[in-house]
Amino acid sequence: MAAQDPAFHLHAGDLCYADSSGLGLPADTYDPRTWDQFLAQTEPISASVPWMASLGNHDMEALYSPNGYGGQLARWDFPDNGPVRSEGVYSFIYGNVGVISLDPNDVSFEIPANYGYTGGAQTKWLDNRLKWLRDQDDVDFIVVFFHHCAYSTTTAHASEGGVRNQWVPLFDKYGVDLVINGHNHIYERADVLKGGKSTKTPIGATVHPATDGTTYVTAGAAGRSLYAFAVPDSYAGHVNDVDEVPSFVWASGAVKVAENVTWSRVRYTGYSFLAVDVKPATPGRTTTLTLRAVTEAGAEIDRVVIAREAGGRSRGHLDDSAA
Ligand SMILES: [Fe+2]
Repeated sequence: MAAQDPAFHLHAGDLCYADSSGLGLPADTYDPRTWDQFLAQTEPISASVPWMASLGNHDMEALYSPNGYGGQLARWDFPDNGPVRSEGVYSFIYGNVGVISLDPNDVSFEIPANYGYTGGAQTKWLDNRLKWLRDQDDVDFIVVFFHHCAYSTTTAHASEGGVRNQWVPLFDKYGVDLVINGHNHIYERADVLKGGKSTKTPIGATVHPATDGTTYVTAGAAGRSLYAFAVPDSYAGHVNDVDEVPSFVWASGAVKVAENVTWSRVRYTGYSFLAVDVKPATPGRTTTLTLRAVTEAGAEIDRVVIAREAGGRSRGHLDDSAA
């Protein structure tokens, strides 16, 4: 990761696993020394590269506070410009990219310890924030990152219905370019999605989000043991397209609802990270946001280019059907 020389780093939650149960319950197993190990382990890069963190289910450390985030707040200096009564929810702008961090513990059907804890404030804030970012002339791309997956097919956590119900319609409405999730310990990229419909997006494709929709990536293979897929991996140099992948989505009451999906385009069961490179452009020209998935050995296993016309509100950022 350091070799990429990034301007900043996004961590999509489950920061260190001091809480190894991840259920947000007082009975969870918890060892605060894990924080010390994590911070020492990551210091070679975090000392010079800003680490922007998001909160996962293992970040609900019930020992500390009613919502479990006391330990995070003691160790991380979040931008703190999100809605009141929320933690780890914020946004910032870097160059021509607006970035939003969300707390999906607030909407998770799978692990509901903090379900609804912002009383709807977070989703309302997200709506307003996306609208505001789209109104900024100099913001071309919007990236949203958070822990639980909107679209993943692992046999462990798969997809979170709470995210699909509450946030995906807003991603469609404002034409969010890229959603980065964690939670599933693998790399997976879905075909571009809009209104629940996917368009086949092979490795190397160029996506036009204003018409095609949103790119959803799960970049969760960062350190803990890896998860599995129900079908073979498929990545650059090793493509195994599968017409339908058997999977499930979490519904209210932590119920798994089976679904066969066609959007699982890239799957990699190995340690990896996502590198994102943005090329700004003068108004009217094409600006690009390029995704590359990179293995721990440095091999590129996925690439997609997201392209937009740069500058100005007249360029048709908003989805016409939702505007
Ligand atoms: Fe998780």
